[in-house]
Amino acid sequence: MSSSTLITGIGELVTNAGPDGVPAGQFAAVRDAAVVIEGERVAWTGPASRAPAADEVIDAEGRAVLPGFVDSHTHLVFAGERSAEFAARMAGQGYAAGGIRTTVAATRAASDDELRAGLQRLVREMLRQGTTTFECKSGYGLTVRDEARSLALASEVTPEVTYLGAHVIPAEYADDPAGYVDVVCGQMLDACAPHARWIDVFCERGAFDGDQARAILAAGASKGLLARVHAGQLGPGPGITVAVEAGAASADHCTFLTDADVTALASAGTVATLLPGAEFGTRQPYPDARRLLEAGVTVALATDCNPGSSFTSSMPFCVAIAVRDMGMTTAEAVWAATAGGARALRRDDVGYLAPGARADLVVLDAPSHAYLAYRPGVPQVHAVITAGQVA
Ligand code: NIG
Ligand code: FE
Repeated sequence: MSSSTLITGIGELVTNAGPDGVPAGQFAAVRDAAVVIEGERVAWTGPASRAPAADEVIDAEGRAVLPGFVDSHTHLVFAGERSAEFAARMAGQGYAAGGIRTTVAATRAASDDELRAGLQRLVREMLRQGTTTFECKSGYGLTVRDEARSLALASEVTPEVTYLGAHVIPAEYADDPAGYVDVVCGQMLDACAPHARWIDVFCERGAFDGDQARAILAAGASKGLLARVHAGQLGPGPGITVAVEAGAASADHCTFLTDADVTALASAGTVATLLPGAEFGTRQPYPDARRLLEAGVTVALATDCNPGSSFTSSMPFCVAIAVRDMGMTTAEAVWAATAGGARALRRDDVGYLAPGARADLVVLDAPSHAYLAYRPGVPQVHAVITAGQVA
């Protein structure tokens, strides 16, 4: 792209910002709009009739333009696949956290190049579907070497890298969970912290309990890692309390919540990141987004892309489920998949379109954001711009 580009003829420009250009905390859009991009940043947004001149002009021909999706929860570094496990679930079998170990075995056996190839394929797949910012966790290595190399690979594709050595207790520590927690908080953390911004714990029956999760997050904090927590995925438990106490940016899943959990999330300002792909893939009930929104909780939507519970990389798919089955309006779901994800990652440069924001844009082959849910499963991404460049 040349130094300034005007995209005009936009049927609906989702800005998520007020007229002053400040992120609004809720969905906002302008009809018959235009946007000017200079370098990596948005320089101007507003009605097309008032757009300034630019070096290059692109006509969006009435299409909707949205901020790029922000997918704040993925597990993309892995080898192997678990389609047979998925098929068995759809035939009536339950989901258990232990399936993670199947992927751990395949991931340990894979070369760096095999893991990198799989990761890059998923990153391209996400970009084609409009995801321009994403978080990526480790968690399928579960040895010092395999967690550290997973994070080194993740950091090749995103700055939002999360150390998830506490995904599940690996088979070789089945009789010594405390010993594994010591490794996660010690040697493994030392090897992983230089590659990561975040630390996460799967706080759930069959994975890590509240006290283990607290110890792991505290150890991470001592190395400068910020907290996020897998909480309330398979049943109620201490995960939300642990997340709020640790000042986590986000508690993720939130499928099973007590009233006290909801109140705690609202008062702490911890984002509830909902992952409907996981409920789809495990035949669980969807989380109740309406209940969270009514209580004043900030809600984000993310894919949880992983080979076990949720092998989708599609933010549009998550938006469609959230609207159809989780009580969100189309506007709320699009905000949650863009600005909500940005909040869950404590990013102030993405998730909205106003002067100064990163020029991450999705152009839909549709006149409004509502089409993401109105036409589920239909590829509607016409073009993606990331940091001012057409992807
Ligand atoms: O977020 N909850 C823990 N981790 C993944 C599942 C991973 C797997 O089944 O491989 C999740 O759903
Ligand atoms: Fe997850």
